[in-house]
Amino acid sequence: MIAVAPAPAALLRGRPFLRITDVSPDELAALLRVAAELKNVPASAQRRMLQGKTLALLFEKPSLRTRVSFEVAMTQLGGETLFAAGGEFSIGSREAPEDVARVLSRYVSAVVVRTHEHEPLERLARAASVPVINGLSAAAHPCQALADVLTMQERFGTLSGLTIAFVGDAKNNVALSLAEAAVMMGASVHFGSPVTHRPSEATLAHLGALGSGTVRAFGSAVRAVRGADVIYTDVWTSMGEERFRERDAAMLRPFAVTDELFTYAARHAVFMHCLPAHRGEEVAASVIDGPCSIVFDQAENRLHAQKALLCALLADTRGFVR
Ligand code: CP
Repeated sequence: MIAVAPAPAALLRGRPFLRITDVSPDELAALLRVAAELKNVPASAQRRMLQGKTLALLFEKPSLRTRVSFEVAMTQLGGETLFAAGGEFSIGSREAPEDVARVLSRYVSAVVVRTHEHEPLERLARAASVPVINGLSAAAHPCQALADVLTMQERFGTLSGLTIAFVGDAKNNVALSLAEAAVMMGASVHFGSPVTHRPSEATLAHLGALGSGTVRAFGSAVRAVRGADVIYTDVWTSMGEERFRERDAAMLRPFAVTDELFTYAARHAVFMHCLPAHRGEEVAASVIDGPCSIVFDQAENRLHAQKALLCALLADTRGFVR
């Protein structure tokens, strides 16, 4: 065995990862270091990291990036996955979350759950004796946030001192998890949204207490993005909320990311989006397909960030092995 990088083993062994705040700022920084190292470690040195481990993916909602990146991550690390779609298990309706957790803990090494409500996920994680990872719930999308901050760190070297403007639906799960990670790493987060889509005062206070970064809410997209290093947006209507699509579009149209809005950001500013995107709604095609967009680097980093997470939760080895 040749250790070619600091051992990721046991960093988070056995713990749930339901929100970014399930890890400390130091642990988050360590995860990002492992993710960056994994991008440079040859495939041959990775393929036994999770040998003998099985990851169950239980998804009540559609997914491209989360499902495929977890499946590829496990394959490249030498483990296996099994996938079950919503109707096959229905957490909380067919079976109590606690029973799902106790049964799966007898079969697999870890579980990724994509679910509608957050509370059944918390119950499932409390009852499981294996790590449970949030693959997106109504409250949080921590795996997306890991990839987001990894991408910003690659681009700018550090998050400390960056200004990240999140414009649009600033109350959603992606915005909250991103803001948690960014504040923990020393960035300033500017939310730009109408009052109806602004995080509550309690959420802003929670975010502001997480680290050395800061958080501010603006009712104007221009004020939110002025001087920003990153402009980030997400779809205006989250999965499962499609009945509100027209209402959301009417309220959020002034917060669309256009070329004109981009002129208020820093000259070196980049555009980020968790995808899937709706061109002509929350973002202009000329922005997301233009030179400032790093959305596909961001999507690729789902793979590397989740490999780091899986190693931190499950790896037995004390280094990458050849
Ligand atoms: N960003 C994201 O979570 O993508 P999917 O919904 O395709 O997994």
